[in-house]
Amino acid sequence: MEVTCGSLREKDIGKKVTLNGWCRYIREHGDKTFIDLADRYGITQVVFESKLKEDAGELGREYVITISGKVRSRGKENINHDNPTGAIEIEVKTLKIIGRSKVPPFEIVEEKESLLPAEDLRLKYRYLDLRRKKMIKNIEFRDAVTKAIRTFFWKEGFLELETPNLVRDSYDVSGSRTMIVPSRIKKGEFFALPQSPQIYKQLCMVAGLDKYFQVARVFRDEDPREDRQPEFTQVDFEVSFKDEKYIQELIERAVKYVFEKVLNKQIKTPFEHLNYDIAMQTYGNDKPDLRFGYKLVDITGEAKKSGYNVIKRIVESDGHVAAIAFQADFGKKTSLIDKEYLVSLVDTAKNLGLKGLTWLYVKDSKLKSIPESISEALLGIEKQLITKTGASDGDIIIIGADTSENVLLAAMSKLRRIVGLKIGKFKKEHAFLWVDNFPLFEKDEVNGKLQPAHNPFVAPTEDTIMYLDSAPEKVIGKRYDLVLNGIEIAGGSLRINDPDVQIKVLKSIGLSDADIASALGFLIEGLAHGAPIHGGAAIGLDRFVATLAGQDDIKDFILFPRNRKLESPLDASPSKIAPERLKNDYGLYIEK
Ligand code: AMO
Repeated sequence: MEVTCGSLREKDIGKKVTLNGWCRYIREHGDKTFIDLADRYGITQVVFESKLKEDAGELGREYVITISGKVRSRGKENINHDNPTGAIEIEVKTLKIIGRSKVPPFEIVEEKESLLPAEDLRLKYRYLDLRRKKMIKNIEFRDAVTKAIRTFFWKEGFLELETPNLVRDSYDVSGSRTMIVPSRIKKGEFFALPQSPQIYKQLCMVAGLDKYFQVARVFRDEDPREDRQPEFTQVDFEVSFKDEKYIQELIERAVKYVFEKVLNKQIKTPFEHLNYDIAMQTYGNDKPDLRFGYKLVDITGEAKKSGYNVIKRIVESDGHVAAIAFQADFGKKTSLIDKEYLVSLVDTAKNLGLKGLTWLYVKDSKLKSIPESISEALLGIEKQLITKTGASDGDIIIIGADTSENVLLAAMSKLRRIVGLKIGKFKKEHAFLWVDNFPLFEKDEVNGKLQPAHNPFVAPTEDTIMYLDSAPEKVIGKRYDLVLNGIEIAGGSLRINDPDVQIKVLKSIGLSDADIASALGFLIEGLAHGAPIHGGAAIGLDRFVATLAGQDDIKDFILFPRNRKLESPLDASPSKIAPERLKNDYGLYIEK
């Protein structure tokens, strides 16, 4: 019988077993030594008595041992009800030390998040961090979700294919830098690491491989955040001769399947839809968390007329002002929002780059503030503010102002989610949302140049394609993002299958014929050899898994993630390479 540290129960009493595991806790009690032996399946208490107690003296924390012995009852009074193996223990007969361990730099216990060791230490000794129960559960959960998604696509008749990881430097995702790899044979030339399998899956469609999917590792050189890593996994798929509706329904069915198989839960489909511009106007971003309401309202006009100089001055320098009301039960004992929290929110707003944030509360249908001078200064627009935000007694209103509308919307939408999560009281557990009808292009904040809002392969809609030459900013793309609880978990589009339209779109973002031929000539050539109508999407697996598990930090679902500085404390990468080696082996000259 194969046993693990999590498998033995009362019914096994009397059996002779062999167990492998790590010595998690060691306790001496009179003439006995008790050890909690741990593996990925659980913890079993093993007892060393009489002569064997001496042998156990050699053992230290996290030593790996193999023991054999007899399963026995712990006795009613000693049962540990918190542990599934808590009714039994093993009376050890033989002990073999398999691997000794240095004293671990932190204890492997289920600490509250706030008590965990510093993140870099956890990442440096990730193999120890991964022995924690929460991490084991996360990694197993990821496996279950991945398996379910694979099964879904196989059942639907998709081929699991592999596109290359050493590719041509081309224009895929805008806004993140491509990572490059020097060629050995062609000195001074480079491969790129794919930001997504995008172009290659399109070429699969040209090849007639009409149902493709791949669990693909992709690379984007951008600063990591809670929901962003430079190396992550996409469940990428593409289909031919289908429209957006088919693709969205396919993802809905895939998500439904995962919920049923992994979480044993039913979800309601079809998901809600929101136009991109409505999402931006109503919530300030294109991935609103719809577990709660709390809409953003523009109060620039009102703020101009108020006597509150802080925001008035921002408006006078062409700035914008927005407000959100939250049902916070402010002033009640049970409220999770108090003055201290709101004061700290002002700091959070500053960190988000917002020039000004003010908070007020509503009592007896009147605006109140601490200090009172703020609500007094806003007295002239009190009625409009309350009506426009829809606030009532107990609500708090936050008012943000900035000279840049983009900064204001980005910060206010983040604050909306932060406060919304703090208040809790969700309307639903899983708020799925399709955001559709994105513009094809957006203006670069710094140089004002047009760039693809997503990637340059998105097909324009039939009724806006005519603006490609005259007013490209008016062109809408056949693109859709799937949002779950405020996290963008998937994105996709119908693609351009006409090589001339593809060239036109690339020219709209300022690429010359030579640029296009050099970077994307192979795609254009492919599209010119019989390209079907095609489209698809990619689910961000790391985000999907974390969101499903109700957690925000995707690092906790990745074996060996990177820290905020893009380093891996585990292997201390990136690392220096001797200039001679760079020059001789890679043809790269680096100034010393
Ligand atoms: P997109 O760029 O939207 O689409 O990526 C698809 C999904 O991948 C996830 N994601 C990330 N996850 C972790 N770390 C990151 N740095 C990161 N960036 C993105 C998101 C996102 O929705 N080729 C297109 C797909 C297509 O059109 O078929 C693409 O890559 O959940």
